[in-house]
Amino acid sequence: MFSEEVIQKVKEQNDIIDVVSDVVRLKHTGRNYIGVCPFHHEKTPSFTVSRDKQIYKCFGCGEAGNVISFVMKTKNVTFPEAVKVLAERIGIDIEENNDKKIERAKFDKMYNINVEAARFFYNNLRKDEKAYSYFKNRGINDSTLKKFGIGFAFDGWHNLRNYLKAKGVKEEELLNLGLVVKSPKGSIYDRFRNRVIFPVFDYNGKVIGFGGRVLDDSKPKYLNSPETPLFRKGIHLYGLNFAIKTNMDRTVIIVEGYMDCISLHQHGITNVVATLGTALTEYQAKLLKRYVDKVIISFDADVAGQNATLRGLEILKKENFDIKVLQVPQGKDPDEYIKANGKEAFLKLVNNALPLIDYRLKKAEDGINFLNKEMIIKYVNNVANILATLQPIEREVYVKQVAQKAGVSEESILETIREINKKTSKNEEKTNINVDFGQKLYLEPAYVKGERTLLKLMLKDKEFLKIITNLINREDFIVESHRTIYDLIVNYHHLPDDERNSKIDTKCAENSECTKEWINIQELQVKLGEYDVERMIHDCIREIKKFKLEESKKEIMSKIRICESKGLVEESMDLAQQLITIQKEISNV
Ligand code: CTP
Ligand code: MN
Repeated sequence: MFSEEVIQKVKEQNDIIDVVSDVVRLKHTGRNYIGVCPFHHEKTPSFTVSRDKQIYKCFGCGEAGNVISFVMKTKNVTFPEAVKVLAERIGIDIEENNDKKIERAKFDKMYNINVEAARFFYNNLRKDEKAYSYFKNRGINDSTLKKFGIGFAFDGWHNLRNYLKAKGVKEEELLNLGLVVKSPKGSIYDRFRNRVIFPVFDYNGKVIGFGGRVLDDSKPKYLNSPETPLFRKGIHLYGLNFAIKTNMDRTVIIVEGYMDCISLHQHGITNVVATLGTALTEYQAKLLKRYVDKVIISFDADVAGQNATLRGLEILKKENFDIKVLQVPQGKDPDEYIKANGKEAFLKLVNNALPLIDYRLKKAEDGINFLNKEMIIKYVNNVANILATLQPIEREVYVKQVAQKAGVSEESILETIREINKKTSKNEEKTNINVDFGQKLYLEPAYVKGERTLLKLMLKDKEFLKIITNLINREDFIVESHRTIYDLIVNYHHLPDDERNSKIDTKCAENSECTKEWINIQELQVKLGEYDVERMIHDCIREIKKFKLEESKKEIMSKIRICESKGLVEESMDLAQQLITIQKEISNV
């Protein structure tokens, strides 16, 4: 990690006006600069940058931050990467300290050992007739074998170990990289035996681990490197290093398996990556976002594949990808399909991939008998949930389609959607703050302001801090970053204001959400005047409580609706009782 000095220097020497100006056309107005917000869609500029304060704030969508978080968000990079970009911009060297140098040397060594192992496996492939012909039979040509570094591990217990030991690699290092396994009795043997080997590269093309496949139908079909310092699950995407070297046209096809990815690449479809059978993570989605905006997801037709698809879709949706779902016919996987039908046929599938909404609507029809009334109701409710996320025009088109299918009126579907939206509108504000900045219209809920006010008061006066910390704990805050800031204020309250603020500044720096809220809190104007502070504190706490109670109320109401539709009288009576209690509480806060 960087020292505080480095971060300070990077912030001081990169004027936020200059950095923002690379992205946004700014106009000088009075003490500030103003432009069209890069974080949400707007016609009238409300994105304001202050040279004095070196911060930005959008009055349209509520985004806020400093020069580092601006780079993180607009370039979609991590904190260290943003610091690097800014350091380069002003031509300063980010000196590595000694610990870091040692750490890096350790990692370089691990990568080198992996490369040696990969070479060993690769050279084995031609020496083993059955392994080499395995790929020939699967239609993989020599240049693909070379490009992906595909190899073979002989059927023996110590081949790799002996080979690497002779090169001076220590047993401990082999264990650390998961290349060998230690038995309970303490003997050490090769992890990969009698398997074809796929080296796994990170997006830089470094070998981080291996996958080994059996040559027949025995189990387990694949054996992968365990979690190691280099091979961390859910961080990388197989094939990305190759894909990004080609013109991806901001679009990627995501498949599940090694062979799917390899096979599509060989057929000249090179904007393909594989998740290797695991559900897509947020980290991977963010990684992809650097390179593409459109994602075509092609997972297996089996149930596991479909579930992986759905989970992956949620993650991708959060990152605002344009998502389509490709379905391979006849239950084949992409490798089998392209082998049987060729590149053009597969590209046709790509062109016919369904937009996410269509895919989800189609899924909602699964198992629905449109002659059965209960099923129709279930279907309409499910579908309304899907359509509730749409913009009005899009929604109208789909509502028509669904109404016809279900044989109900458009109005009743719209009414159901309105109910759902009423229910979720406040929830969405909450997620807005955490993920989808700038996507939806910005409405600041009272509890957010309440929480900010409390934190502001804690900064203003030690006496207020005491009162507030006696009344409310970190867990009582709803906004995650507010909890962090609460802790920081408490931890550093003994420092002089300037020092405390700069400490909190640094601590918030790595998390752009924290930076945003930290700036919002500092910028908040709290007029104390004749207003009784204790009353203000209680008002704020009341807003938080009220929000939480309203949330539970909605949850109970939706449970009641479900129970009633299922005719569960007892349960819905119980729930009604709970509802009354909550309503009482709400009127009492
Ligand atoms: N996988 C795994 N371990 C298993 C099975 C699968 O790690 N026991 C991962 C592999 O990365 C595999 C992916 O899940 O590539 C998809 O699995 P599957 O569809 O079964 O394999 P394919 O890639 O289609 O492999 P092949 O075509 O060689 O059967
Ligand atoms: Mn396959």
